[in-house]
Amino acid sequence: MREALVRYFEENQRLIEAEALSLLLSQPEPLRLSRRLLEESETNGPFVTRGMVERMLTLGELTLRAPAMAFGARPADGPAEPPPPYRLLNEGFAPGIAGRKPLEAYQGLFHHRYRTVQRWLKGRPDLPNLVSIKDLRGREGTASVIGIVREVRVTSEKKHTLLAIDDETGSVELLLPRDSPATRTTYLLDEVLGLTVSVPRESGRLPVVRAVHRPDVPATRPARSTTGSSRALFLSDLHIGSRSFLGESWSALAAFLRGEGPEPEIAAEIRHVVVAGDLVDGIGIYPHQERDLAIHDIVEQYVELGRRLSELPARLNVIVIPGNHDAVCPAEPQPALPAELANLLPTNVRALGNPSIFSLDGTAVGAYHGRSFDDLIPAMPGASYARPTDVMKGMLSMRHLAPIYGGRTPIAPLPRDGLLIDPVPDIFVTGHAHTFGADRYRGVLLLNASTWQAETEYQRMRNITPIPARAAVVKLADLSLTAFDFSEPGRAAVAA
Ligand SMILES: [Fe+2]
Ligand SMILES: [Fe+2]
Repeated sequence: MREALVRYFEENQRLIEAEALSLLLSQPEPLRLSRRLLEESETNGPFVTRGMVERMLTLGELTLRAPAMAFGARPADGPAEPPPPYRLLNEGFAPGIAGRKPLEAYQGLFHHRYRTVQRWLKGRPDLPNLVSIKDLRGREGTASVIGIVREVRVTSEKKHTLLAIDDETGSVELLLPRDSPATRTTYLLDEVLGLTVSVPRESGRLPVVRAVHRPDVPATRPARSTTGSSRALFLSDLHIGSRSFLGESWSALAAFLRGEGPEPEIAAEIRHVVVAGDLVDGIGIYPHQERDLAIHDIVEQYVELGRRLSELPARLNVIVIPGNHDAVCPAEPQPALPAELANLLPTNVRALGNPSIFSLDGTAVGAYHGRSFDDLIPAMPGASYARPTDVMKGMLSMRHLAPIYGGRTPIAPLPRDGLLIDPVPDIFVTGHAHTFGADRYRGVLLLNASTWQAETEYQRMRNITPIPARAAVVKLADLSLTAFDFSEPGRAAVAA
């Protein structure tokens, strides 16, 4: 192990002090810790010191406690929990570090975002002569850089696009001549991407972008181990407590799951249910919401959620994540429901954070409520709430759920960017748009799970037409999808 660690640091252009090495070797999983150390270390210097390892270990204590919180842990004296029928595939929600100043914390987040995407892009043959921004000056010919987008603007006279990007060594402004292929990409603020540029010989002229590379989903994906006939059902946006919750459609869904509806053979194979947020309607989420509420107490809304979930067969493994209407901190990544609320739900329900990535019988599912649609849809020409899966493709190509900072999606100042998409899931599910959509992208099944709330006055005002009461059922072994329509409870059917 000692040699393996030394080699690992050498490969990453670092020299490790003997004392730092001994400390790492005294820990469980020293290789995993070393990887984190390089990801998180604030300096880019060549030496790894004992102090750096110690600092990471203190941070690690907090981060490693996170999964317990993400599982919505019961109090210590509560009943012992059975092992979860799913496995978390990344660290999910990580709590903030107490005592950190907000600006420092955001710096940490952007450094982590930059370094992670840099690691994904480095060494790609389509990024020749990769240099830092500082080293771009004084070069000539073709070079590549990896940068975080700071500003995009169109010149008033010639309508060229100017793209300002940063990395850890500096900033540079790049030119995208009008009508050049690189102008067809929509650049989103704060996303990290790779750019191949031509640096002109004359000093004072801007480098010209020739090609753009997003981290994207790898063309070849590892084979999945899922076999058998088990299926997962995807729902979202129940909005329990709202006057417009579709109780009869919900009852028809529960009957279907008991085998009393269409396609009982398919219903019998459903093992898992995933609910992608906005479990309840909440209180004071938008102006005059009280007019739309049937239940005016937030705890009572979760009691009712527990009652509705207990109408579903107890054999199901139900996973719920919060959305922007739920009673947790709205800044993303959002923690799981606190134990006081999670305890109101049946014992077959697990509360995880938003976003979460977990394995269901060997198939990786990424669940994100989708608040960032509110920032991405206005920023992406042609995007709309009617086609959220198009926006989800953009998220996958950026490998980020909510890149834009300072918009409508509040982002928590954490030392790690928990909104990076890592690993890439096999099924990527969102909600929030209150529509229903399914698509595929590079082998990933994209689902925008439907809502169980009818149109509200507020949505009418904002011109959102929901497609409610659809249930997406996916066979995990081959990712085949069957959608059911419960919008007319008496006539539940397979949806077209
Ligand atoms: Fe919603
Ligand atoms: Fe929402």
